[in-house]
Amino acid sequence: MREKIVAGNWKMHKTLEESQALITEIRGIIRDELRGQTRVIVCPPFIALTAASRLLEGTDIGLGAQNCHFEDQGAYTGEISAPMVKSTGARYVIIGHSERRQFFGDTNEITARKAKNAIRHGLKVIFCVGETLQQREDKTYFKVVEAQLRDGLFDLDRKEFSQVVIAYEPVWAIGTGLTASPEQAQEMHAYIRKVVATHYTDEIAADTSILYGGSVKPDNAATLFGQEDIDGGLIGGAALKARDFVDIVKGMR
Ligand code: 13P
Repeated sequence: MREKIVAGNWKMHKTLEESQALITEIRGIIRDELRGQTRVIVCPPFIALTAASRLLEGTDIGLGAQNCHFEDQGAYTGEISAPMVKSTGARYVIIGHSERRQFFGDTNEITARKAKNAIRHGLKVIFCVGETLQQREDKTYFKVVEAQLRDGLFDLDRKEFSQVVIAYEPVWAIGTGLTASPEQAQEMHAYIRKVVATHYTDEIAADTSILYGGSVKPDNAATLFGQEDIDGGLIGGAALKARDFVDIVKGMR
């Protein structure tokens, strides 16, 4: 059966020292308060991955990067490859976040290459999809998300696809305080599961974790996570506060 997951995407926040402090705090609260059914993952900036990996040794908390390049190495100044991410001890990587798509030119084709290469190197991919406000208003959102899935993921064979977690993040809900209603989110999650079932199998779709992201907070987490096809969350702003992040994880039961 599919895993319940809450992942924190720290984006471009926290220096090395601040990251270490936040990881230590999250680790402490989780140890004291959670008996885990839910997989918890933190995705700090690249510069903190190695230190985070050491701090998380012996815990069940997973570690992920927020991006990686599609080549293993080469003349790509400023980029980080999947083997480099792997060498820090991280086991996950977020691919296709809307901020990467919007500000750094990550097209569906690029996200496909990134996802494929990350999986080849043994990373699990948290693959983000989601429509803009314009696309929601135009009512093209199902088509947009379907294309992101098809062009970004569906070249993967079944074994590769088993390493994918999907995150639905409507762009209009990210960092805006506007959350998709539980019904809007559930509708899209069910649709995503159907698209996966059509391309792969019903069984594979049933085993795929689909996370919701976009202004998830401690006070709305439980209702969102209570929806049938919502298997957890990808948390931005609220993942930067240990107390809020763990309270969101608690919304998962
Ligand atoms: P917020 O939780 O800050 O809206 O961000 C969501 C997000 O983009 C997580 O990847």
